[in-house]
Amino acid sequence: DRSIKIAPSILSADFANFGAECRAIEAQGADWVHVDVMDGHFVPNLTFGPATCAAIRPHIKGTMDVHLMIAPVDAYIEAYAKAGADVITAHLEAGPHIHRTMQAIRSYGKKSGLALNPGTGLEAVPYLLDMVDLICVMTVNPGFGGQKFIHSQLDKVRALRAMIGDRPIHIEIDGGVTPETAPLVAAAGADVLVAGSAVFKGGSVDNPAPYGNNIRSI
Ligand code: DX5
Ligand code: ZN
Repeated sequence: DRSIKIAPSILSADFANFGAECRAIEAQGADWVHVDVMDGHFVPNLTFGPATCAAIRPHIKGTMDVHLMIAPVDAYIEAYAKAGADVITAHLEAGPHIHRTMQAIRSYGKKSGLALNPGTGLEAVPYLLDMVDLICVMTVNPGFGGQKFIHSQLDKVRALRAMIGDRPIHIEIDGGVTPETAPLVAAAGADVLVAGSAVFKGGSVDNPAPYGNNIRSI
């Protein structure tokens, strides 16, 4: 399914009200809920772990998309699988055994995601295509919400689209997605658009989307 899916990142939500925030964004049309896990080591910020993911799971009806910005990652995959993730994404840069990491994610019956930092090329991708269900092109350096979209990544998205061909692999964009940049990434071939600050900034549980109170308007 290559239709455009909006995946609000709860990194920009109210951390004291994840349940209500998840219900509110789904009620307003969110397709997936994107959950940013940070370890203060792979990225210079800390968020939360598998217990928090398990706690918010019952508040999400649709796809729970867990983005692991942690290293090492392999030893923690089981915990996020048991926490109820539908998609588990790990970074190519997070360790020497990315192929094994993708295998491990699938071994729990989960969709495997491969994330690439802005400075990382596509060299390894052909050798991972049969192991991945999603490739996440980071359009900011991971660690924080509200950063500026890095336009040089659009070429990478186009090249990735060509590499994937007809395979059922999602291309996800993470970072700096706004009503201005969303059409650019969609035209380049992406189908899952993560949006944190564009959905939640200035909003509240009752009114999380500043864009006409309609997430689809992104
Ligand atoms: C960055 C995170 C993103 C982030 C996106 O490390 O992976 O998911 O929350 O936030 P915005 O949409 O504000 O750039
Ligand atoms: Zn993310």
